[in-house]
Amino acid sequence: MPALTVRDLTVRFAGLTALDGIGFTVEPGTVHAVIGPNGAGKSTCFNVLSGLYRAASGSVRFGDRELTSLAPHEIAGLGIARTFQNLALSAELSVADNLMLGRYRMTRTGFWSAGLRLRRGRREELRHRERVREIAEFTGVAERLAEPAGSLPYGGRKRVELARALCAEPSLLMLDEPVAGMNATERLEMAELIVAVRAGLGISVLLVEHDMGLVMRLADEITVLDFGRTIAAGPPRDVQRDPAVLRAYLGEETP
Ligand SMILES: Nc1ncnc2c1ncn2[C@@H]1O[C@H](COP(=O)(O)OP(=O)(O)O)[C@@H](O)[C@H]1O
Ligand SMILES: [Mg+2]
Repeated sequence: MPALTVRDLTVRFAGLTALDGIGFTVEPGTVHAVIGPNGAGKSTCFNVLSGLYRAASGSVRFGDRELTSLAPHEIAGLGIARTFQNLALSAELSVADNLMLGRYRMTRTGFWSAGLRLRRGRREELRHRERVREIAEFTGVAERLAEPAGSLPYGGRKRVELARALCAEPSLLMLDEPVAGMNATERLEMAELIVAVRAGLGISVLLVEHDMGLVMRLADEITVLDFGRTIAAGPPRDVQRDPAVLRAYLGEETP
């Protein structure tokens, strides 16, 4: 399983440097968190890594592949799956069909079109439906497979989104604020699920999150951004008591 290595990454929007030479490595099979106050550059970092934004300079390598010039579908094709900060499910489609869309990278015969009528296409579809059920069970949404995704409560929809990302069989999963907008119970359940993904599936996780408490419990390594710069990095126990980190988070509450 490849490591993800970010080096000297700089991203500019007209007049604003959103990321200013940041760097970190997500070691295989670990949870690496990128945290920081609002506006720190977390989502920008995420969007560069998934190919939606272009870097002004710097590099992002996944194993020996350079990602900064690739399109989102090419990055996904290398085994990097992501969720979005705002839900990106099809509300009218069933949970099962949303998860089947997540299998797209794995399909051979294109069973959503003409392949559906061929025996080979049907066999392949059945195989994918079985795997979708397994992933739904793992993520705790199996009971709702037949229901429209939009009918699930917020926490459930976030689980479905994570399940859909897992359906691509990624080796690296990127989660953008997976517990944003959740109540305490939903937060705990999501944290347990992320632990299970790493422990049970051996997938590396890059977690972009505002909630420092959650990150302290989940992450092996943490990179802290503020105004596009790395202000601290290391294991949770070091980052937690770093004066620069405390200042950045305290500063947030000050108007
Ligand atoms: N598409 C964009 N165009 C212009 N400015 C942007 C864009 N995306 C983000 N920014 C700016 O970049 C900075 C970092 O934003 P963002 O990465 O969303 O922070 P975070 O996710 O840490 O809250 C902010 O000042 C934000 O306004
Ligand atoms: Mg953000």
